[in-house]
Amino acid sequence: MTTAKQPTEIKDLPTPKGHLLLGHLPEFHKTANKHQVLERWVEECGELYRIHFAGMKLIVSANPQLNHKVLKLRPEKFRRLSKMAEIIEEMGVLSVFNAEGETWRRHRIPIARALNARRIRTFHPVLRAKTGSILKKLSDRAATGEKVAVQEEFMLFTIDVTTSIAFGYEMDMINQQQDEFQDHLKTIFPMINERISAPLPVWRVFKQEKDRKLETSLKVIEGIVHRFINEARERIKKQPELRENPTNLLESLLVDKEAHNFSDKDIYSNVFTMLLAGEDTTSNSISWAVFYLAQHPDLVRKIREEAIAVYNGEDVAPSQEHLSRLVYTHAVVQEALRIKPTSPQLYLESNEEVVLENLRIPKNTRIILQNKVAQTEAQYFTRPHEFLPERWLESECPVHQNHSPDLVKTFGAGPRFCPGKYLAINEMLILLSALCKQFDFRLAVDPQEVNEQFEFTMYPENLWIEFTPVGNDVPSAV
Ligand code: HEM
Repeated sequence: MTTAKQPTEIKDLPTPKGHLLLGHLPEFHKTANKHQVLERWVEECGELYRIHFAGMKLIVSANPQLNHKVLKLRPEKFRRLSKMAEIIEEMGVLSVFNAEGETWRRHRIPIARALNARRIRTFHPVLRAKTGSILKKLSDRAATGEKVAVQEEFMLFTIDVTTSIAFGYEMDMINQQQDEFQDHLKTIFPMINERISAPLPVWRVFKQEKDRKLETSLKVIEGIVHRFINEARERIKKQPELRENPTNLLESLLVDKEAHNFSDKDIYSNVFTMLLAGEDTTSNSISWAVFYLAQHPDLVRKIREEAIAVYNGEDVAPSQEHLSRLVYTHAVVQEALRIKPTSPQLYLESNEEVVLENLRIPKNTRIILQNKVAQTEAQYFTRPHEFLPERWLESECPVHQNHSPDLVKTFGAGPRFCPGKYLAINEMLILLSALCKQFDFRLAVDPQEVNEQFEFTMYPENLWIEFTPVGNDVPSAV
């Protein structure tokens, strides 16, 4: 007779060295780069371990099988970390990102539809115009030989794209047009990061100047978005054809029958979330791709040749159909997303007791999923720390021994995977392809001086690039 193996209890997991009473809190909170602390502890303890913050217990898992199961078991058995959800909710936002259970489901369906692959096609003119705009700006910089802090520039690009796609608002941050809306967003985003990382919610008992400023900014943004909602309603009344082909996310939510029970507050919350979720994630991913491309001119040339072959005379991909033919560029995008996921870890909590991979996870257990670890491990990806887009091309893979695409969780997984994935990939494709077609570029700093920096998302700090315009004669790629 066989007896079932007893599940492992959390108390039996290994734990890194920590302070007697405060546990792992001091080391975790002294740095912004929490993912690196967690990665160091993986080296110390293995892929599954426990930590505590002054008595508050957490599991940390870099085990890809366990992480996949946890992500799939949402929203029933796991949820986003309640602290993170509450911080966003007390700012007046309850959206697809921080809602749970049935409320989440009600929000998810129309949001996923508004950002699905078919709808994204209608946004192509926005992507094209904004790509043209940043190319022009970088051409001016290239003419003077000035080095460029690209992460900041790409952020302006994604802000312009997201605000236009979210509610048809033409911000023109690329050309540094001063804008009240943007000034307030600049106050809000760092404060969300600060509050999520704060060990205690001090602002709930004592409001500092920055907290009052945040409240003002939130009120202004909410007022502006409500004005957009009313204007969009009027537009739809006057142009009923928008019901079939909404031109932005706001219109899409107003005409979607699943969203009919959405209040204006629900619409505001979701549009606000798009701005929050879609800007630095995408611009940081583009920046990481450029970091590697700048060190590999042969890859830049391959992207350029592909762009010339696919949309010859044009500077920017003319249509979505052209973008879908950029096979090599797509491999570069996938490789950048694998090697530098901008959300290296996800924070969740269990809603009920569950046994997974023989580990008993009691109700209300906090769990940090460190997905980046498996994405850069040799057992899953051969030569994992090398930037090798070819590994994504079936016919050309030089490193075919280990290749586990299903382990890449840069956009999360399961029912709550990122609904902005198609938009983000299109933004990456159109911009990277156009940049490589028009410029040669090189790192203006030593690669060792470009660091992973975590502020809500992970970005390359100190990334400076020099752009040089290319002539019409394209040297052949290797
Ligand atoms: C390269 C760019 C992006 C990356 C790496 C990224 C990554 C992620 C990740 C890791 C999650 C959590 C998924 C999970 O819990 O399983 C997420 C959720 C989400 N993302 Fe993205 N994202 C990107 C771009 C975007 C864009 C452009 C938008 C929208 C304009 C967006 C909207 C959202 C929303 C609404 C959620 C919450 C989904 C839910 O909880 O149901 N993201 N994203």
